[in-house]
Amino acid sequence: MFATIAARYDLLNHLLSGNVDKRWRRLVSKSLYASLPRGEVRILDIACGTGDLSITLFESGKASQMGEARVVGIDFCRPMLDIAKSKAAGFGLRIPFVEGDALDLPFLDDAFEAVTIAFGLRNLASIEGAFTEFLRVLKPGGTVAVLEFSKPRATVVRLLFGIYFTSVLPLFGGWISGSKSAYRYLPDSVSRFPDQKELSDLMTQAGFEEVSFQNLTGGIAALHLGKRPN
Ligand SMILES: C[S@@+](CC[C@H](N)C(=O)[O-])C[C@H]1O[C@@H](n2cnc3c(N)ncnc32)[C@H](O)[C@@H]1O
Repeated sequence: MFATIAARYDLLNHLLSGNVDKRWRRLVSKSLYASLPRGEVRILDIACGTGDLSITLFESGKASQMGEARVVGIDFCRPMLDIAKSKAAGFGLRIPFVEGDALDLPFLDDAFEAVTIAFGLRNLASIEGAFTEFLRVLKPGGTVAVLEFSKPRATVVRLLFGIYFTSVLPLFGGWISGSKSAYRYLPDSVSRFPDQKELSDLMTQAGFEEVSFQNLTGGIAALHLGKRPN
């Protein structure tokens, strides 16, 4: 499915969200860096797709006073990775983009200070399996950041967003991407995904500590943070 929509994925993300997706990714980066130690950090961006979060993380790491960030992106969809690679090369950024499965990461234990996943967790076959794998590759004390669609808090926002998400978005998404099923899958998968509190509970049950979340744009999306215990 992601291979089919790869070529139009970025365009649709920015168009259908009115560029809000860029603000969300910048916010992930800012909140993540605030939780990381000073000095060199290694960040794994899981289900990186076309690399927008990996690139934001890399650039914010360079711009911050905190030291160099080494960012690696991983995804199992080659056409998405090809776009990520050419975008990073176009900006002159050295970000390795690796082909691999989020549920069986090709990295050693305790390898990263942080792992991130943006709009990816919802697509995995097992959230619990993913968290086990994220904990394995994180260093003790390392941070996980999960950006995902969530449940808008205000009823009116929930209703209006629901109409947009289930009617307008599949229509335009299907038309522009050429894959109707992909943009019908999007609202379906979001409706099945745990809300803010449920996801926090799943993270805690999986073994993360200091789990917290922040609603973005009234809860249309949420950023969850957690730490691997020391
Ligand atoms: C909605 S896109 C999100 C891409 C990117 N993180 C972003 O913020 O735009 C979901 C991505 O998850 C990837 N994906 C889904 N299941 C995966 C798995 N088991 N292992 C690795 N990548 C996976 C897909 O290939 C796709 O690129």
